[in-house]
Amino acid sequence: MADATISASAAPVVGAALPHDSAQKHVTGRALYIDDMPEPPGLLHLAIGMSERAHARIVAMDFSAVLASPGVVAVLTAKDIPARNDVSPIMGDDPLFAEHEVLYHGQSLFAVAAETREAARRAVRFAKIDYEDLPAILTISDARAANARIEKSRSLTKGDTSAALSRSAHRIEGTLGIGGQDHFYLEGHIAMAVPGEDGDLTIYSSTQNPTETQLVIAHLLGKPAHAVVCEVRRMGGAFGGKETQSALIAAACALAAVKTGHAAKLRLDRDDDMILTGKRHDFETRYAIGVDADGRITAADIELASRCGYSADLSMAINDRAMFHADNAYFLPAANILSHRYRTNTVSNTAFRGFGGPQGMMVVERAMDAIAIRLGRDPLDIRKLNLYGPARDETPYGQRVEQHVIAELIDQLEESSSYRARRKAIHAWNSRSAHIKRGISLTPVKFGISFTATHLNQAGALVHVYQDGSVQLNHGGTEMGQGLMIKVAQVVAAEFGLPLSAIRIMPTSTAKVPNTSATAASAGTDLNGMAARNAAQTIKARLIGFIAQTYSIDEAEIRFANGVVHAGTTTIPFAQAASEAYFARVSLSATGYYKTPKIGWDREAGKGRPFFYYAWGAAVSEATINTLTGENRILRTDILHDCGKSLNPAIDLGQIEGGFIQGLGWLTSEELVFDDKGRLRTHAPSTYKIPTASDRPEMHIALFDNQNDEDSIYRSKAVGEPPLMLAISAFSAIYDAIAAVGDHSIPPHLDAPATPERVLAAINGVRGGPA
Ligand code: MTE
Ligand code: MOS
Repeated sequence: MADATISASAAPVVGAALPHDSAQKHVTGRALYIDDMPEPPGLLHLAIGMSERAHARIVAMDFSAVLASPGVVAVLTAKDIPARNDVSPIMGDDPLFAEHEVLYHGQSLFAVAAETREAARRAVRFAKIDYEDLPAILTISDARAANARIEKSRSLTKGDTSAALSRSAHRIEGTLGIGGQDHFYLEGHIAMAVPGEDGDLTIYSSTQNPTETQLVIAHLLGKPAHAVVCEVRRMGGAFGGKETQSALIAAACALAAVKTGHAAKLRLDRDDDMILTGKRHDFETRYAIGVDADGRITAADIELASRCGYSADLSMAINDRAMFHADNAYFLPAANILSHRYRTNTVSNTAFRGFGGPQGMMVVERAMDAIAIRLGRDPLDIRKLNLYGPARDETPYGQRVEQHVIAELIDQLEESSSYRARRKAIHAWNSRSAHIKRGISLTPVKFGISFTATHLNQAGALVHVYQDGSVQLNHGGTEMGQGLMIKVAQVVAAEFGLPLSAIRIMPTSTAKVPNTSATAASAGTDLNGMAARNAAQTIKARLIGFIAQTYSIDEAEIRFANGVVHAGTTTIPFAQAASEAYFARVSLSATGYYKTPKIGWDREAGKGRPFFYYAWGAAVSEATINTLTGENRILRTDILHDCGKSLNPAIDLGQIEGGFIQGLGWLTSEELVFDDKGRLRTHAPSTYKIPTASDRPEMHIALFDNQNDEDSIYRSKAVGEPPLMLAISAFSAIYDAIAAVGDHSIPPHLDAPATPERVLAAINGVRGGPA
């Protein structure tokens, strides 16, 4: 082969623990992000002018001082938009620039285009905006009182919950508040638009959703989709925050490029990013759980209310997913799961790793701890009693759990983490320790894999084999650090029997693969891996046909392995086969396609099969709290997680650890505080505390030996989101430590995140003092 780095190896490439394809580039700073790209001549830099009111009528906007500011080239407002002033994913309710009314503090009003980023950022502050204040709905309780919603309430119902509840031996009730979360990707939102010929535009965007970026911009500018190309090589983290929210940043650049004829770039500053763009939904929840004398759940009545912000964004699907995960891993014989989606004058909340699932699961996990306290039992025993299993397999939405691995997974983890012995040791410690208390908890995760909007479960790919046998791989998925590109490259390498170095990973582009879904719902590898394999198989079939004919050999005797094509006793280097095929006029390029089988559900009825399969996992966390200050930390976490037959254990272990730590931040230290004017007060790392290296507990992570029952790519399972919810074990361990203050006889009231203030209030509550 032409490239000296392409060398054959006998080691199987699928299932190998290979480092991320960009790992070295990440750590040496040579991985190119959009801000590292060479800047086109005449590039303009943008800054966004943001609302200073939560809800107000815009009376007048005066930009004379902005335009007079040095370096300013243009001010862009809603009036400059040629076609549709909307950057929303579905509902048409996210203007690029607010025109008559602002709906949240920080909303985009206009953009300044200037010769430098500093000039644009300085000039933005000289705008004079006259507002006429309107009443603002800021919290879930405000919205409940005003009946402000983004859509009607939805419910999942199974059996007669109220009858079952009233017949139950015990009834356990409570409330749980769950905070939101900022994505805090290292690379903030950024885009660059470059105008071309005939009104063409190329958009480089840090987005999980190139197709939607393309379509939003085409609609905004009144252009056909074919005039807009969106390209993404990689994001410096996304976590759901760049599924829809990136559209506004890209659209502002596209508009500036069209208006000025110059390339335009917008890189949000961290504070602006946090104020302008949506976050994880915060929830207020309530539960009433019926249990029998043994602690087995008989009925669950769960109410979820979320703060969606000023517009719909993806809140419908996110709240649906919260409902789908309100059972977590537990069989609910009767269930009534009710979900309210409240509209507020705050930033529009959006996708965040888990997509509502984490908030849904929190409630039933709290209920497990509360049941254990009521019955005086170990919470692990209550959890084990209530797991899904054969004959106890029907979810509240009618899908059946088919792969019953969770009981065995928990047994293995209970053993490997020495849960029982440590529970005893912690008990002994707590009886001796006056001020420091410890707690431990094992919590499971069951996470449904597939987009619940069925049409999104499709993917495309485009594979080229060149005459020298090297391969270019294009597919619709985007790389955000999760290792999608290397996994799909492993699949294609395996198909051709080539080493990984023979496969060139290309940037994601709407010009190569059209009509793609966001890389989200953890389904990136499941979908794009299958589509890419499909493309490779098409080319392979052509090669096989050609070789069979040329070498007069049976097609069944042709194999691709170790960089060569084995045709009976003849071996032909792959490069030679490609070259011979080219000269014989055999096409060496193909598209691939995949759509997930078996899925579909009826949203109105709340019944069906939204998920192709479930990913499973469990974690044991041990926490310590200082009862005088409320400070807490997680000492140790053991995880056993189900990735099916892992495509790449190195990547999967990284996803598990990273997901857990991100969940830990959500549930312990990351707190979003909005003031009574609707201003986000925690908009920088000085006040918003993500976990640091020193917050990482001692960790023991293992992959559960399993394979997907369903025909997924090499029987693997999706891993991107599920591990985040393993962090519920940490929150529950803190709860357990607080419960130790009252000898596990009084259920603490602890909302998330478990900041020192909340932990202290919960301790006071257990002691019978003021919360
Ligand atoms: N891992 C890294 N390093 N960075 C990210 O932004 N996003 C998560 C997860 N893991 C993310 C990540 C989210 S929200 C999802 S949905 C999946 O990756 C998306 O990628 P996948 O479908 O290829 O797993
Ligand atoms: Mo992930 S929240 O589905 O982008």
